[in-house]
Amino acid sequence: MCGITGYIGKSEAVPIIIEGLKRLEYRGYDSSGVAVIDRQRIWLQKKEGRLACLEETLNGYPRASLGIGHTRWATHGVPSDANAHPHTDCRGEIAVVHNGIIENFARLRKWLQENGHVFTSETDTEVLAHLVEHYYQGSLEEAVRLALQQVEGSYALAVICAREPDKIVAVRNQSPLVVGVGDGEYYLASDIPAILNRTKQVYLLEDGEMVVLTEDGVNITNGRGQQVAKDIFSVTWDAEAAEKGGHPHFMIKEILEQPRALRETLRGRIRDDRVEFSEVDLDCLLDGVEKIFITACGTAYHAGMVGKQVIERLARIPVEVDIASEFRYRDILWGENSLLVVISQSGETADTLAALREAKRRGIRVLAVTNVVGSSVAREADSVLYTWAGPEIAVASTKAYSTQLLLMYLLGIYLAQRRNTVPPEVTGALVRGLAMIADKVETVLQQAGTIERIAENYAGTQSTFFLGRGLDYAVALEGALKLKEISYVHAEAYAAGELKHGTLALIEKGVPVIALVTQDELEDKMMSNIKEVKARGAVVIGLGKEGRGELKQEADELIVLPDEDPFLTPILTVVPLQLFAYYMAVKRGCDVDKPRNLAKSVTVE
Ligand code: AGP
Repeated sequence: MCGITGYIGKSEAVPIIIEGLKRLEYRGYDSSGVAVIDRQRIWLQKKEGRLACLEETLNGYPRASLGIGHTRWATHGVPSDANAHPHTDCRGEIAVVHNGIIENFARLRKWLQENGHVFTSETDTEVLAHLVEHYYQGSLEEAVRLALQQVEGSYALAVICAREPDKIVAVRNQSPLVVGVGDGEYYLASDIPAILNRTKQVYLLEDGEMVVLTEDGVNITNGRGQQVAKDIFSVTWDAEAAEKGGHPHFMIKEILEQPRALRETLRGRIRDDRVEFSEVDLDCLLDGVEKIFITACGTAYHAGMVGKQVIERLARIPVEVDIASEFRYRDILWGENSLLVVISQSGETADTLAALREAKRRGIRVLAVTNVVGSSVAREADSVLYTWAGPEIAVASTKAYSTQLLLMYLLGIYLAQRRNTVPPEVTGALVRGLAMIADKVETVLQQAGTIERIAENYAGTQSTFFLGRGLDYAVALEGALKLKEISYVHAEAYAAGELKHGTLALIEKGVPVIALVTQDELEDKMMSNIKEVKARGAVVIGLGKEGRGELKQEADELIVLPDEDPFLTPILTVVPLQLFAYYMAVKRGCDVDKPRNLAKSVTVE
């Protein structure tokens, strides 16, 4: 997820563009850049690091009144000056900024290079600049339209050309893009916050729409080149609310972003009912692997708990999961055919990084699963699979967790494909299920109101228990952590079968127990556990699938999940638990995005 901006009007473009990028840093901040047209030439500056690093290079910027800008969250190519946007064509006459993922960039890059184009970055975006150059015959909008006919993927794209110094061409396809309308000046932005201090009058572009901005105004056409008449949208939010998409907290925004994050993480990784990782060669890493260790911290560790069950069931490879702060001091029985998988949203967690380095020291192969391109774990692992969730700002991890789960499923299926441990019709069905999982998460999110009501009913509780068996137990661990870390309510997740070995003593009248009942073969056992706690006065909040008659009868509150293969259900099950924790914390007046004592990335031991 990146942020793009653009400006055309009567004022100096650079300060306006930089100001807009500052308001988009929540969308990405590992590098940034700006390009303007000054006396028929493109003037461009771009820099790795936060926006402040770019600002330091802007002394003496030209007084141009047309330009584009970009703040990056890397997906292809590590954060660096060369990989920062804007990217230009061979002659430096065309500049582009882009938010999204070009799925077929490798093939396009090869074809362009064969046609004499010289690339200066590792990014997918740069192919767009050279494609526009290839098709440019005097009309920038026509060249952009022809170029995009070759492109597969998502983009919000803005393009300027020195030969047409009075226009900005922009197109939206699956990545957001808005147009701001001022008094004789016009703005482009990935999101409303970037321009809110300049105008509250915006056009919200739809997929396939192209906009041409000139001093004379805004011209919007659809994918067929037909004029589009659009109503102006008047923004009622203030700037801070706008960064959260109009939501009160980043956490709820990121919970609601999960369908998009799942789709982006899946993009380009499934084809013809099979999993493929075209972005990295996993084969030499995975050849001969006989034992897998997974290590991580907190929420990432909980994703590893699901990963263990998924990989063992599909790939028939034994998997050990360990909290990184324990793992790094354990006397690990490494084998020469061991693989270590480290999971880390930030890619900078000290204990996880230390475990990675210990494994490398022993010559063990390491695969990283992380959300930050160019992070320490990404750089130091032998291979890396990225969750493309976009920046996660709230301390409580939500969309990173669900996309980590998705990668665990993709890895498990990929291993099963390589080892032929599961019939293709089984892995094919799972791939089709994952292709639909984002839609099902959207269905679950529609129950936010019900979950808010339930959370408010129990907001005064001092202690809550989460019960589950099998995959549900692994997800229960995550639900308990979410509740603890943002609402400060004591919460424990327990393997339901373990209750009678002690914890049952804590169950008394009125204690809320969240019971996860999604695993068909364990349903009867779970129902027995629910009756056990109810007999001691517990209030049971059941979480299960439609039509589970006994659960509906026994639970005091019921959160219903859409019908799904129990094996894939963890990606759905966690969503109500995230919402429950969120609404509980809001009701208790907690600082949801920045809970006490906690940091977003624990880079110290
Ligand atoms: C998750 O809600 C917590 N903020 C925390 O447990 C986090 O998952 C843990 O610190 C690991 O962080 P990482 O994924 O960046 O390594």
